[in-house]
Parts: sequence; structure tokens; C-alpha cells
Amino acid sequence: MKKKELLYEGKGKKMYKTDDEFLLITEFKDDLTAFNAEKRGNEAGKGALNCKISTELFHLLEKGGIATHLVETLSENEQLVKKCKIVPIEVIVRNVATGSLTKRLGIKDGTKLPFALVEFCLKDDALGDPFINDEHCLLLNLVKNQEQIEEIKTIARKINSILLDFFDTKNLRLIDFKIELGLDKDNKLILADEISPDSCRFWDKETNEKLDKDRFRQDLGNVKMAYEEVLKRILN
Ligand code: C5P
Repeated sequence: MKKKELLYEGKGKKMYKTDDEFLLITEFKDDLTAFNAEKRGNEAGKGALNCKISTELFHLLEKGGIATHLVETLSENEQLVKKCKIVPIEVIVRNVATGSLTKRLGIKDGTKLPFALVEFCLKDDALGDPFINDEHCLLLNLVKNQEQIEEIKTIARKINSILLDFFDTKNLRLIDFKIELGLDKDNKLILADEISPDSCRFWDKETNEKLDKDRFRQDLGNVKMAYEEVLKRILN
């Protein structure tokens, strides 16, 4: 597969065209950003760790019946993926209250939620990815109709259920995560982007130690070690 020109550069990844119009190459970067890129850093090897973690999790989800954009891994930080039209919504699923949820609603940090909460943010850096509801999604034509919103929520909950069970066996609590979905060439919703410690929160089951990007956000140190620990447990 020939890597052609750069199509897009995001905060954590670069996307390249290939000689196949339906396939792209994703390159995972070592850059770290937080608070809408107001805080920036770089951790050598982080891109490769996220690429490996995301590949493992996408394979797990595929086995569980979730369609994803992943075709194959090309190198330690590159994946070949299906081209899709990204739905400009960040879909967040939460099992435990922390982060922006505690700030917005005053729920005590660490409270286990009675059900998996699905939230949407508008994928728009200039606006700071604001939280939006179903009606905003329809108003802004981010989705086709209410049925598609329900489909997005169903996929998000199914992903949560597969990942919760999986990480439980790895002594990790899946606190929350963000996913992005896209429409493939047949207009089918598929999981795109990545699932990694950049986009999830993982706490150790025994100690509640944070093993994700909050270590960077909160200057807790040992960012790379935390990502390595997540990968080690996934592969165990
Ligand atoms: O900041 P907040 O608590 O809303 O984040 C919820 C989850 O979504 C966290 O796992 C966070 O890493 C992820 N997230 C993300 N990209 C964003 C916003 C949140 O991956 N732009």
C-alpha cells in the first residue's frame, strides 16, 4: 500500500491518502494535548503504544460484532483504515463520574453511575467541543434523523459493555471514554478514530490509580509508564 499525501493532521494523529481511494493510513503521533490543546506535550513512543492498544481493542470489538474502520496495522505507529465520513459528534460514555461531568453537574468525583451515561459533544475545536443534546444533533444536521441518534447510542453502549467486561478481567476500571463514528462507502456506521488511554479513563481496580491521559492533564507524571501498563494488561 503506497502512502500518499497528507490529508489531515489532528492533535493525536495524521491521516494520509493511499493509492486506494477507499483506504487511508493513520499515523499515531507522540504529541499530547489537553484542554483543547491549551496544554501541549510530547512523549516519545506514545504514538506506538496507542496504535497497539487501539488495534487490540478494535480487534476485540470486531469479534464482539462492532464494525470498525481498521483494516490492518502497517507498522508500530501506522494503521491502514477504511475511509469514512466522520460524524462530527464526539460520543462519550461514562460509568463513573469524574472530569467534566463532576464539574458540570456537581456529582461527587468517583461516584459509580446507576447506568452508562451517553453524552454528545460537537466536534469543533474552534468552539471548544461543546456538549450538545439529541435536538442539537438534528438542528445542526449532524445526523440523518432520530433513528440514527438511537443507533449511535446503541453502538456506544455495546462498545461500553464489551470493554467493561474485558477491562474488568484486566484489573482495570473503565471510567469513561470517547469514540467517533463514521459512515463507510455503504453509509453504514462504523467505529473510527482510536480507543486508547488518550481517549479513555482507566483506574486500577485495587488502588484507583489513574492510568490514562489524566496523568498528563493533572501533571501526575509517569504518563508513558501508565500507557505501557495498560498495554501490558491488555496483552496478558
Ligand atoms: O473531559 P471529560 O470528562 O468530558 O472527558 C470524558 C472522556 O472523554 C474522557 O475519557 C476523555 O479522555 C475523553 N475525551 C476525549 N476527547 C475530548 C473530550 C473528552 O477523548 N475532546
